[in-house]
Amino acid sequence: MRAVVYDRYGPPDVLRLEDVARPVPGEDEVLVKIHAAAVTRADCATREANRRSGLLVTLISRLISGIRRPRQRILGSELAGEVEAVGAAVRGFAVGDHVFGSTGFRFGAHAEFICIREKARIAHKPAGMSFEEAAAVCDGGLNALWCLRLADLGKGQKILIYGASGAIGTAGVQLAKYFDADLTAVCSTKNLELMRSLGADRVIDYTQEDFTKNGQTYDVIFDAVGKHSFRRCKGSLKPRGKYLATDGLWNLILALWTSRFGDKKVMFSIPPRYTQQDVLFLKELIEAGKYRAVIDRSYPLQDVVEAARYVETEQKTGNVVLTVGGQGT
Ligand SMILES: NC(=O)c1ccc[n+]([C@@H]2O[C@H](COP(=O)([O-])OP(=O)(O)OC[C@H]3O[C@@H](n4cnc5c(N)ncnc54)[C@H](OP(=O)(O)O)[C@@H]3O)[C@@H](O)[C@H]2O)c1
Repeated sequence: MRAVVYDRYGPPDVLRLEDVARPVPGEDEVLVKIHAAAVTRADCATREANRRSGLLVTLISRLISGIRRPRQRILGSELAGEVEAVGAAVRGFAVGDHVFGSTGFRFGAHAEFICIREKARIAHKPAGMSFEEAAAVCDGGLNALWCLRLADLGKGQKILIYGASGAIGTAGVQLAKYFDADLTAVCSTKNLELMRSLGADRVIDYTQEDFTKNGQTYDVIFDAVGKHSFRRCKGSLKPRGKYLATDGLWNLILALWTSRFGDKKVMFSIPPRYTQQDVLFLKELIEAGKYRAVIDRSYPLQDVVEAARYVETEQKTGNVVLTVGGQGT
C-alpha cells in the first residue's frame, strides 16, 4: 500500500510517499481502507520532535517517539474509511462498514490502510456525512470534549474561547453551546461570521478589542490555541474561575500549583484519555445536527508536504484533510 513515511525528525520535506506492507488485522482488529485523514498540529509537532516548544519538550517528545529517529514512520491519527477485513473475534464491525475515528499517538493514518482494535476509538460514520468531514471530527472534537469536561462546564456558565477558529476552537464553540453555556468566542476578523454560524452568543475580534480589558469576567476561559496565558487571563476570571490550557509545559506546573493554592485554577491534563464512548458521543451530536466538521482545505495524499506546511502556518480555520485514493467524499 502507499503511505506517507518519515525517517528523521524535521520540516515537512522529510515526508515522502512510499510503498509499504499492508497491515494484517489481529483477532480483535478491523482493517480500514482509509478514504480521508486529517493533518493536525500533533502530526506536525511529532514530526519535528516538538522543536518549537523548547529543549525539554523536545527531549520528552523524542523519549516517546524514538530518541534518534521516529519509531512510528507513518503519521496521521484522525481518519475515515471503509472496513476491508475483520479479525476472527470482531463483532461490532463488518466488511463494508463506513467508519471514522482516532488512533491518537499510535498514528498510522496517512496511508491507504490501517488496523484498529474494534474497542479503540472508532465508530460507524455518522449518516449523511462525507469521509472528508468525518476525518475532520475527532482532532478538535475529542480534545475540546476532554477539556470542557475537565472544567465541568455546565448550563448557563460563562465561557470565553480564545483561538475559537482552530480545530479545537471550532469544536469547543459547538460543544460549549451543546452544554448550554453562555459563550463568547474570540478570533480574528475573517472568522467572525463562522463563529456566529457555529452558535457563539458573542464574538470578539482580537484585532479590535482586548477581552482582558473590557471588564467582563468568565467562569471558564478556554485557550484553545495556546496563545494566551493564565497570568494575562486571571483578571477576567470570576472567583473560582478556571483557565483551560491546550499547550505548554508551564501550564502543567501551573495546574499542579493552582490545584493547591489560590481560588482560580489552571486545568491541563496530558495525555488526554479519549474513549470509544467519546467518538460515539460526537457521532450522536452530528446526527442530531448539533455538531459539524469545519474544513479549511483538502489535499490529495501525495500533496502531504504542502498540507503540512499550511498546518504549520498556525492559521488554518478548523481542519485540513488529506483524501486517499481519490475517494475523499
Ligand atoms: N503538540 C500536540 O501534540 C498537540 C496536540 C493537540 C493540540 N495541540 C495544541 O492545541 C492548540 C490548538 O490546536 P489547533 O489544531 O486547534 O490549532 P489550529 O487549528 O492550528 O489554530 C489555528 C487558528 O488559531 C488562530 N490563531 C493563530 N494564531 C493566533 C493568535 N496569536 N491568537 C489567537 N488566535 C490565533 C487562527 O485564527 P484567527 O485568524 O481567527 O486568529 C487560526 O485559525 C495548539 O497549541 C496545538 O499545539 C498540540
